Amino acid sequence: MAFWEAVLYVLLASILCGLYLLGAFRRRRPQEPPLDKGYIPWLGYALDFRKNSAEFLKKMQKRHGDIFTVLIGGYYFTFVMDPFSFGTIVKAPRAKLDFETFAVELVIRVFGYHPCQKDHKTIQLASTKHLMGDGLVVMTQAMMENLQTLLFHNRGSGEEERPWQQDGLFHYSYNIVFRAGYLALFGNEPGKGTQREEKAQKRDLAHSEELFNEFRKYDRLFPRLAYAVLPPRDKMEAERLKRLFWKVLSVKNSYQKDNISGWISDQEQFLAEAGMPEYMRDRFMFLLLWAAQGNTGPSSFWLLLYLMKHPEAMQAVRKEVNTVLREAGQEVKPGSPVVTITRDMLMKTPVLDSAVEETLRLTAAPILIRAVVEDDEVHPEPHTFKYNRFLNEDGTKKDFYKNGKKLKYFNMPWGAGTSICPGRFFAVNEIKLFVFLMVAYYDLELVNEKEEIPPIDVSRWGFGSMQPTHDVQFKYRRLVCV
Ligand code: HEM
Repeated sequence: MAFWEAVLYVLLASILCGLYLLGAFRRRRPQEPPLDKGYIPWLGYALDFRKNSAEFLKKMQKRHGDIFTVLIGGYYFTFVMDPFSFGTIVKAPRAKLDFETFAVELVIRVFGYHPCQKDHKTIQLASTKHLMGDGLVVMTQAMMENLQTLLFHNRGSGEEERPWQQDGLFHYSYNIVFRAGYLALFGNEPGKGTQREEKAQKRDLAHSEELFNEFRKYDRLFPRLAYAVLPPRDKMEAERLKRLFWKVLSVKNSYQKDNISGWISDQEQFLAEAGMPEYMRDRFMFLLLWAAQGNTGPSSFWLLLYLMKHPEAMQAVRKEVNTVLREAGQEVKPGSPVVTITRDMLMKTPVLDSAVEETLRLTAAPILIRAVVEDDEVHPEPHTFKYNRFLNEDGTKKDFYKNGKKLKYFNMPWGAGTSICPGRFFAVNEIKLFVFLMVAYYDLELVNEKEEIPPIDVSRWGFGSMQPTHDVQFKYRRLVCV
């Protein structure tokens, strides 16, 4: 009897211990926001959140007010839906935010990379040096050159036919922006001298196309991989892809390339000096590729699509693009060299800037900020694309208000505070360069001009720029032969 009693006590203690570890006993403490654990132990609201995060957050906001804590898949997340509280959170030190533990596990699961203390500092240092200020001039030029290769590698004598071509707009934009950004950051195939340069260029085109196709396979698996809900076969595929990227982007391969960016080589060196083994640095490269190239392609797609669906916006951007070219003494002319757009030229495009910002407001806002970008007091008609929403009549930048008080945080596609996206200036330039060239050189039309803007794929909520549930066919034709 005593034996069974002991077994029973141990069993009971284990269950209680298990429940404790699952967070079943967590209660709301004084000074804490309302706590809602849902009905399912450990999972909490994971299923509702995954199904439609925006709807779920709205429901919780109605029930609990602007600030609340919910249990999602074993973690407690505190959501702040009041824009005036963002400042306090943004200024909180990284270590104080619950998100950190979740992010570490995510990075291990998704990239096989084990974060170290030096990562954040490494990223910050390299980004300040190479993705801002003078570094940004160099990176913008590298992006420009690679875009020229991708868009105009099949140049003729300047007198050929200009046939219409057709493609999926999402596929086309993501493909070109991903490949140009990848080559600008990770370098080109080696080749000096005219003939070897041509061959190297062909290899760049083929290799980047192949890499993009593999990246898209991984991209599709990403949300379910992040939530650890992939079925076994997809898990094996994700594992294969992960290994492929570690190899292709490996430190050894990188140093065979020409024009590798300082952003990549500096970070690799810092981590090597900090004693990180080479195989782990290979994995870090994969993380960098993901952070750098997973968002700009989808954002470029949305911007081009909005411009095509809003002729007045397309006209305003075209006008600005032509003015900037004219002022720089360049022209889109048959048979003449492809125009070169510099960082300085990109600083004279307030209309394009506003259109980019509006696109990001609608398609790239992280969860924290969703409530404010959809608040119709801050942004009237919040679901409509207004290319000049961020501009005053005189072309200067606009301020935003709520309850008569000026808002500091009215659009935060880049996150905020210490973990704000360090690539934001380069990202904007990538998108602008691509759209600038497309608008300057092509007639652009939707195959079905009545086609609606596709809905966003809600399963990707919280993972950067949104993607559409389906692609949209478009036609493009060069305005002049080049
Ligand atoms: C439209 C394009 C992009 C969007 C919407 C975007 C958005 C974001 C967001 C929301 C974060 C997380 C911030 C946080 O944790 O609070 C982030 C982090 C990051 N982004 Fe971007 N990003 C974009 C493009 C880029 C580009 C082009 C690069 C680099 C060339 C880049 C590099 C990074 C890196 C390295 C991090 C991690 C920073 C850290 O943990 O310290 N991003 N980005």
